[in-house]
Amino acid sequence: MYKSIFLVAFIAMLATAICQSMAPTNTPTCAPKTTAEQENLKPNLQVLNYALTLEHLEAAFYREGLKQFTEQDVVNAGYSAQVREYINTIAQHEAVHVSTLTTVIQGLCGVPVQECKYDFGYGNNFTTFLQVASALENTGVSAYDGAAQMITIKSYLTAAATIATVEGRHAAYLNFLVGMMPYPQAFDTPLNMTQVLAIASPFIVSCPAVNNQCNGVAATNSGVCSGNGVCSFTVCTCNTGFQGLDCNSTSSAVPSCPSQSTTVPPNNESGDDNSRSGAAQVVGSLLGVGAAAFAALFV
Ligand SMILES: *[C@@H]1O[C@H](CO)[C@@H](O)[C@H](O)[C@H]1NC(C)=O
Ligand SMILES: *[C@@H]1O[C@H](CO)[C@@H](O)[C@H](O)[C@H]1NC(C)=O
Ligand SMILES: *[C@@H]1O[C@H](CO)[C@@H](O)[C@H](O)[C@H]1NC(C)=O
Ligand SMILES: *[C@@H]1O[C@H](CO)[C@@H](O)[C@H](O)[C@H]1NC(C)=O
Repeated sequence: MYKSIFLVAFIAMLATAICQSMAPTNTPTCAPKTTAEQENLKPNLQVLNYALTLEHLEAAFYREGLKQFTEQDVVNAGYSAQVREYINTIAQHEAVHVSTLTTVIQGLCGVPVQECKYDFGYGNNFTTFLQVASALENTGVSAYDGAAQMITIKSYLTAAATIATVEGRHAAYLNFLVGMMPYPQAFDTPLNMTQVLAIASPFIVSCPAVNNQCNGVAATNSGVCSGNGVCSFTVCTCNTGFQGLDCNSTSSAVPSCPSQSTTVPPNNESGDDNSRSGAAQVVGSLLGVGAAAFAALFV
């Protein structure tokens, strides 16, 4: 009796050790997985790392913005001081999303993607910062909506829905602040991973190498969009040394980063087209992205 308990404990320890050696950044609580469990987890880990990619971007965006803009800057830009407080709450939500997703991925023996270096292009203009914030939050909503079908673990689907709705609340508030309709249509527009990375990649300057090796994606800064909503970009995906839940994180094999191109649907929701295209033009020109293509962010 005691012997078999010790044996089970020993096997669990061994499995944990193997798991950790596969994924050096793991916490010790990564429970061993059967091959069948690993197969089931693969798509879920990919979508978790995809969500984490976006949450890192948002968290860094608010953290940097709050460091830069004082309450006086906010008031000088014509907003009440409370706006900065509310932005601070959004920043806290995004930081918690990052830490929670990271812990969940580690608990599944996955390797979480890390924060990249970003250029959000708002300069020292708080109004532009809010416009980019609104664009990011609306994209986040579309990303979670589009990714839901990739999740095969039911409890994770509920967890993802609870994040998606919070992103929707942020989006509504920010839309309102920048003079856009807070709830533009009866159905939000789902975007798939390719489309979201095409939108997000212009903000990404560079990413740590581990991102290429994770069972995830690392978009790079080659994102260029033409005026008709066609965006090209590169995304690195692991194509070598895939072992279990992750790419072989000890392998120095260069990941493949193929150039891709996709069409992002234009913003054609009615009612506030002028303010939306106005915001898109300002932000788009700052980023050197076609205004019409950038309007796709305001879905
Ligand atoms: C900030 O950007 C907004 C539009 O994004 C523009 O209307 C305004 O003039 C800019 N403010 C400054 C001080 O440049
Ligand atoms: C995403 O949608 C675009 C546009 O409809 C399509 O071309 C692309 O193949 C889709 N990508 C994935 C991964 O489904
Ligand atoms: C992982 O990569 C290392 C270094 O390239 C290599 O020695 C090892 O055999 C690889 N493991 C697997 C399972 O591919
Ligand atoms: C946007 O335009 C496309 C193509 O013209 C159309 O299929 C789609 O239904 C429109 N979406 C909305 C929300 O009006």
